[in-house]
This record gives sequence, structure tokens and C-alpha cells, in this order.
Amino acid sequence: MAKEIKTIGVLTSGGDAPGMNAAIRAVVRTAIARGMNVKGIKKGYQGLLNEEIIDMKGKDVSDIIQRGGTILGTARCMEFKTPEGQKKGADICRKHGIEGIVVIGGDGSYRGAQALSRQGINTIGLPGTIDLDISCTEYTIGFDTAVNTAMQAIDKVKDTSASHERCSIIEVMGRNAGYIALWCGIANGAEDILIPEKYDFDEQKIINNIISNRRKGKTHHIIINAEGIGHSVSMARRVEAATGIETRATILGYMQRGGCPTAKDRYYASIMGSYAVEILRQGKTNRVVGFSKGEFVDYDIEEALNMVKGINDVEYDIAYLLSV
Ligand code: ADP
Ligand code: F6P
Repeated sequence: MAKEIKTIGVLTSGGDAPGMNAAIRAVVRTAIARGMNVKGIKKGYQGLLNEEIIDMKGKDVSDIIQRGGTILGTARCMEFKTPEGQKKGADICRKHGIEGIVVIGGDGSYRGAQALSRQGINTIGLPGTIDLDISCTEYTIGFDTAVNTAMQAIDKVKDTSASHERCSIIEVMGRNAGYIALWCGIANGAEDILIPEKYDFDEQKIINNIISNRRKGKTHHIIINAEGIGHSVSMARRVEAATGIETRATILGYMQRGGCPTAKDRYYASIMGSYAVEILRQGKTNRVVGFSKGEFVDYDIEEALNMVKGINDVEYDIAYLLSV
């Protein structure tokens, strides 16, 4: 029988993502239902080191499930990457009676969670990032909302692009991963999708594609460019010079990280938040929760960080097949 945990903490770390609030709500309400106390740690590991720690009751998470961002705030904290910072963080947890922590964030945040776990604080990670770039899981909190936000924005750009018979290069987020770009590429019926996992930097191929599409009578040409490729504005200048077709760049930027989470993000974040508390109660530590092959699962953090996933070749080929 695992030692009973009386008090847990919850923090959000790294880039915010829509659905983080739903996860916080699920952690707080599950823990309270199981007779635990909950402490909210503000601004990620930075807030832990600054002792920005508040008591959280069930009512503190009322009316947040539909809100984007994170009510706890988030930050990036260099000091927590040092052994001294990690020891200080664990000592502060002990001072506040925090025996377990749920960390909502990406791969970097899991490293911090692993460090806390080594210092004797039971930690569980939840995948919170719009980028979908966490290998151990097919779903990350925020991805669905971000893709839908980007898709709607791209639909709008496409309207004006078609009216003016222009080419549009639209840059989406994703850090070094092309998941948002690929999903938008298919969902928006884009003519070209440039993602770090696949793009060979052969711009002439894109130029030829634009010219050939124009000859076939297409009035617009949408290129989704992942931020991992970047340089959309200069690319637009070169494409316009080479094709003679007016070309504009749009960088969607932070709008993709905000806004009201979709039902899918609220649902998965709620289940994952609750799951994290249940495995803390079982005495588990140094684990990360994921969704794989239709099930919610948990992995050892080191094992999770060593997993590899990539873009599905068949899906990428289908995107091009359908854009003709
Ligand atoms: P994400 O969690 O989205 O990948 P970051 O990589 O920025 O975002 O990491 C978030 C925070 O996690 C960092 O600011 C730092 O406080 C902590 N962190 C990242 N890497 C480590 C590490 N190797 N050891 C301890 N903490 C880390
Ligand atoms: O990880 C989420 C994300 O929005 C990435 O898509 C992007 O590369 C990065 O964060 C931007 O980070 P910052 O908020 O530090 O500008």
C-alpha cells in the first residue's frame, strides 16, 4: 500500500496552451474529492523558487474550463536547470507540505519534473503544448484548439488570396515540428506544405508548382510554412520575383496559442488531469501521462523522453495527392 499523500501541488510550465485550465480544474477537483489538499504554484518552476504558492479549493477552479491560457501563469526558469535550483525547489515543496506535484508542460518541463522526483517529491507530467511534439503521446493539450484556430484564419486568408489571384505563404507555429502545418495543410486544402521533417529546401519545385497550378486555372496558391522552416517574408519576395504572381506572407503567431479550448482539448485535459492525481495516489512518481492507441497511459519520464515519433509519410503524401 502506497504512503498516503495529503497535499499535492500543480503548476503549468513552458508555453501556455488552451486546455491547461481544464487540466488544472481536473487536478484540483479530483484531489479534493480524494481528501487531499491542493496548492497552486504560480508561474512554473520560477514561481516555485519564488514561493508563489496558493491554497486551491474547488471553487477556485469554477468557470475556467472554457478559458484559454493558464490561471496559474507560466514561465521559463533557467535557475531550475541547475542542481542548486532543483534542491531549493524540493526544499520549498517540503516546507509547504507538498508531497506530490502535477506538472503540465512539454519535454523541458518533464526534465524539471524528473529532477523533483529524484529529490523525493512525487511528480507526474501532463503533455501541455500546442506543438504535438511529445513523442510518448498521440495527443497534447492545446493542439486541437491551435489547429482549429489556424485553420479558420487560413480559410480567411484563402478568400482574399483567391479574390486577388495571389499566392499566400502562411506561417504556423510548431517549434521544430510540422504537426500544426500538416494538419492545416490537409484541413485547408493547401497546395504546398513546408515542414522541417520533409522540406528539402528546393524552392524551384514550389515555384514550378505555382506556375503549373496557375496554368491549370487555379486562382490561388496556399503554402503552409511551418515556423521551423521560417523566413516566410523573404520567401514571398523570391516567389513573386520568380513567378510574376503577387505573393504575400502572413505569420499567424501567438493567436494560435490563445482562445477558448475546443471540446476535445477540454475533454482530454480533464481526463488526463484526473488520471495524474489517481496515479499519484497509487504512489507513482517520475511518470508522464499520454494517450496512445485509444487509451490513456503513463510512462517513466526517461523512457518517454527517449521515444521518437515523426510525421506519417502516408498522411503527408495524401496531403499532396488531394491538393492537385
Ligand atoms: P516545454 O516544457 O514546453 O518543453 P521549456 O523547454 O522551455 O518548455 O521548459 C520549461 C521549463 O522547464 C524551463 O524553463 C525550465 O525551468 C524547466 N527545464 C527545462 N529543461 C530542464 C532541465 N534539463 N532540468 C530541469 N528543468 C528544466
Ligand atoms: O511551444 C509552443 C510555442 O508556441 C512554439 O510553437 C513556439 O516556437 C514557441 O512556443 C514560442 O515560444 P515563446 O513564447 O517563448 O515565444
